[in-house]
Amino acid sequence: MHRFSFKHNELYCEDVPVRTIAQAVGTPFYLYSVGTFLDHYRKLKEAFKAAKPLICFSMKANSNLTVLSALVRSGSGLDIVSGGELFRAKKTGVDPKKIVFASVGKTREEIEEAIGCGILMFNVESAAELEVLNDVAGKLKTLQKIAIRLNPDVAPDTHHYITTGGKANKFGLDRDTAYQLFASAARYPHLRFSGVHIHIGSQITDAKPFIKAIRRSLDFIDAVRAIGCPVESMNIGGGLGIIYSKEKPQTAREFAGAVLPLFKKHNVGKDLKLILEPGRFVSGNSGILVTKVLYRKSAPTKSFLIVDAGMNDLIRPAFYGAYHEIVPVVKVKKRGALRNTDVVGPICESGDFLAKDRKMALSRAGDLLAVMSCGAYGFVMSSNYNSRPRVPEIVVRGKKFFTARRRETREDLVRLETIVEEVL
Ligand code: LLP
Repeated sequence: MHRFSFKHNELYCEDVPVRTIAQAVGTPFYLYSVGTFLDHYRKLKEAFKAAKPLICFSMKANSNLTVLSALVRSGSGLDIVSGGELFRAKKTGVDPKKIVFASVGKTREEIEEAIGCGILMFNVESAAELEVLNDVAGKLKTLQKIAIRLNPDVAPDTHHYITTGGKANKFGLDRDTAYQLFASAARYPHLRFSGVHIHIGSQITDAKPFIKAIRRSLDFIDAVRAIGCPVESMNIGGGLGIIYSKEKPQTAREFAGAVLPLFKKHNVGKDLKLILEPGRFVSGNSGILVTKVLYRKSAPTKSFLIVDAGMNDLIRPAFYGAYHEIVPVVKVKKRGALRNTDVVGPICESGDFLAKDRKMALSRAGDLLAVMSCGAYGFVMSSNYNSRPRVPEIVVRGKKFFTARRRETREDLVRLETIVEEVL
């Protein structure tokens, strides 16, 4: 469930008409329902209550400071993947002991910074990374907790760009290598091998691949505990799917119901700490992209709605062939029969579409459209392609809306550049 709904044919975000916001800030813009972010976070927390998990919101999905701060105030930790995300995380006031750091390519500087601010754990992706971590931790005179990211070799049914737990992926370590590393933990005196981490992919709607991967990980934990490695935590990653169209994803309660029994003999919450890193589940349905129809035109086989948001604002349809529902912000009767429509942006690329071959009522120039379920991997993946300023992020709480990130200006576009006279 989310808090975008129609009242009297008009789309509201919580208690604010989207049209009112569009009039105030112009289009396009991202619009977030803070209440929805918190609802989703709490649903997961509630569902896993028995295990007292640490939920680290995966901030790569949405790193808006207001959104993050709201989640952090509600008790969420953060899953980070770069020094930039650490910098943002610190601004939210999150307890560093609730930060986990994953990435196959952490730099020495990022590692130094993260150890320096006392994060909970690094999710380690290679033996080479362990060497650097051990070295830095030694220099900083700390004993740093790490988890080994296990590649459990399961292939969930999702887009091939966002599956991460198969043998051919760059992520994690195969079982034998991971076992060898635990067995040689003494070689890394400045690291405490305290956890096992997995993340098998994203937008996974079915519990089966999770179950398979968690079973394999728990077997692995048993095996390394048997050789004297005191594994304290299991991080099951993120990846929970949401509804974009007709998906039937598991609810938080169903997911917990499938996952928690697997931990029965591990006494989860006491002998084994459970960590989750949801991104999309918390944020996906919590945001929309609002855009305006600029023109419409007809071709022999279809209609085009040309809107003021493009693939630079939302790249998911172009990049993954992702489906986002598109609805009018104000429903108007008598717009005629549904037509086969492409909703396209102003960018000079044929891949610049928000919807392809969609049966839609033909909107008119000036109409506002809402591209739904854009709260995850929307703004964070946007760019300045075609020298388009990035759009603002507006947040709603109840009856009020606020600008959480202002629209970029033309000056912002060139702020970091210098015309180098010497080469002219
Ligand atoms: N943990 C790790 C280690 C991850 O790599 C990811 C996402 C997550 C957690 C959060 O996954 P989620 O709960 O959001 O599925 N840009 C793509 C999605 C890329 C996901 C990358 N990793 C998209 O727009 O669909």
